[in-house]
Amino acid sequence: MPEVITTVRTVKDLRARLAAWRKAGETVALVPTMGALHAGHLALVTLAKSKADRVVVSIFVNPIQFGPREDFTTYPRDEAGDLAKLAKAGAHLVYAPDLAEMYPKGFTTHVKVGDLTEDLCGSARPNHFEGVATVVTKLLLQSAPDMAVFGEKDYQQLLVIKRLVRDLDIQVEIVGGEIVREGDGVALSSRNGYLSPAERKIAPLLYQTIHDVAAHLAQGEGADAASEAGRFKLEAAGFRVDYVAVRDPDTLAPLSGPVSHARVLAAVYLGKTRLIDNVPVPPPASTNR
Ligand code: PAJ
Repeated sequence: MPEVITTVRTVKDLRARLAAWRKAGETVALVPTMGALHAGHLALVTLAKSKADRVVVSIFVNPIQFGPREDFTTYPRDEAGDLAKLAKAGAHLVYAPDLAEMYPKGFTTHVKVGDLTEDLCGSARPNHFEGVATVVTKLLLQSAPDMAVFGEKDYQQLLVIKRLVRDLDIQVEIVGGEIVREGDGVALSSRNGYLSPAERKIAPLLYQTIHDVAAHLAQGEGADAASEAGRFKLEAAGFRVDYVAVRDPDTLAPLSGPVSHARVLAAVYLGKTRLIDNVPVPPPASTNR
């Protein structure tokens, strides 16, 4: 059978497709993406398929979550490649609206999640989470899925989305998928393609460092000392460090002293490229070290 996948570009067509599935008693999972798909995105499709009868993947590079000096215009786009990958992965429908469909003339309503968005990536990217929360709310209202799947790669984003769904009474289950990594530990990201060969060479140190921080925490080292040591190691390796933080895994509240259950999160720059990563405490048994 040739691997093809249907693409809809309007809310009207999306709803018509989904209504037919619902009428047949089928459950629907939504996997929101900005395209330039890699194995991390496709793992979310596989996870969605294991939990729902039908999987819809949205592809929309959302301008309002990019800052004025960020990479909206240069963000990688490859719709033909994405469609082929999604057909192969067994997704059932792609929703790829254009800008005017998502943000019609006069659009002015935004969703702001307080608290959780104020620091970590929210500090360096002031309107980022408002842009994410707004588009994700729209995607959830447009498709009204039974569940929506997001990666732990963007851990703060995952918690922001869980919170907005709770606060706004949106009836959907939010499912988190584990981070997919290269063999050397680098978390797959559409932005990894920006790295020069020299930068790509040191990129694995990000995961190695936060994994070590998590291991030290698990051995009883205090959160402040462990995260400071992580920052020092990353700076010495040539990263510009935005943050290395030890946080409560559910609320992102800062932790200090010894911790038993936490998340280590980090954001760094290699040249102009911003990389983020995170690991649980206790850390996963690592095969890459
Ligand atoms: P994007 O960066 O395309 O990511 C889409 C989804 O894939 C997100 O849930 C993200 O966490 C997940 N993902 C990315 N890399 C991953 C990896 N290595 N392992 C596992 N999951 C991974 O995140 C966004 O788009 C946007 O902010 C979006 C939610 C679509 C709103 O515009």
